[in-house]
Amino acid sequence: MDTALSTERLEVMQHVGKDLNVLMAEYLKPIEENWQPSDFLPDSSDENFLSEVKLLQESCRELPYDYMAVLIGDTITEEALPTYESWLMDVIGVNQVEEPSSWAAWVRSWTAEENRHGDLLNKYLYLSGRVNMRAMEVSTQFLIADGFDIGTDRDPYRNFIYTSFQELATNVSHRRTATLAKKFGNPHLSKICGVIASDEMRHAKAYKDFVRRILEVDPSELLLALEDMMRKKIVMPAHFLRESGVKMGDTFSHFSDAAQRLGVYTTNDYIEILDSLLIEWEIGAVRNINERAEKARDYLMALPDRLKRIADRTRIPELQYEFSWIK
Ligand SMILES: [Fe+2]
Ligand SMILES: [Fe+2]
Repeated sequence: MDTALSTERLEVMQHVGKDLNVLMAEYLKPIEENWQPSDFLPDSSDENFLSEVKLLQESCRELPYDYMAVLIGDTITEEALPTYESWLMDVIGVNQVEEPSSWAAWVRSWTAEENRHGDLLNKYLYLSGRVNMRAMEVSTQFLIADGFDIGTDRDPYRNFIYTSFQELATNVSHRRTATLAKKFGNPHLSKICGVIASDEMRHAKAYKDFVRRILEVDPSELLLALEDMMRKKIVMPAHFLRESGVKMGDTFSHFSDAAQRLGVYTTNDYIEILDSLLIEWEIGAVRNINERAEKARDYLMALPDRLKRIADRTRIPELQYEFSWIK
């Protein structure tokens, strides 16, 4: 990103960031009132702990293979939070040294809320008795070490477009694993996935609001950023996922196949998220933009239908892959 553009981005971030206290109060919850992982887990200091774990394990016994794979992949994705926090800290307009109580405070507080997701799911999976924890932990460490390549640069516009999309995607997948857990007779796990899903929705609303505010002051550049992100396609944050002895990213494709087979996150969901963002940001109605941005807008408005035609032709592999994570 060239210097002139960076300076403009910085100004817009300062403009949007002036309401940050209000935005944080609206979209994040006070820590002491927030749910914590232990609210949903057996208390190990309780004398009934072992019998509760036994019940928990019984309720996990019948969870299908693909379901376990998806839940583990979702957990690892949440546990790679250090990657996401450090990435966002480096975005133009985020400055933890000179402005620790501005955008950096948002990133820290968002991270604090997100941190509970991996924490809760990891402990649950550990207790479930279905998981090869060591294999899973190796994948988590690999994923954090490998990082990701999401094509957002240090651009706040591209990054907030990305997080808007991603929070919606994780909302969909946690919501679906919640619904399926209930169907498979595990209301406890359903509740766990459900509370996480509702956090993701709250976060999605925040990032969508940030983008909306940017759109008000810099519509042409925002449209160009959105076009660029959609041309490159939004990659999942765990796209480099691997297991021991497996090539970087290969485990991710198997995980994503399992999610497609199960209907937890599909190509259709991707298109629906895009569609919902175009509607919410009223992209089709954006006016007073330059010629390039007009072209970007037209490309974007035609994109969902184009993607739908391609999606109809893609086939999901039926073959189940054997993950090292599952016992
Ligand atoms: Fe999360
Ligand atoms: Fe999230």
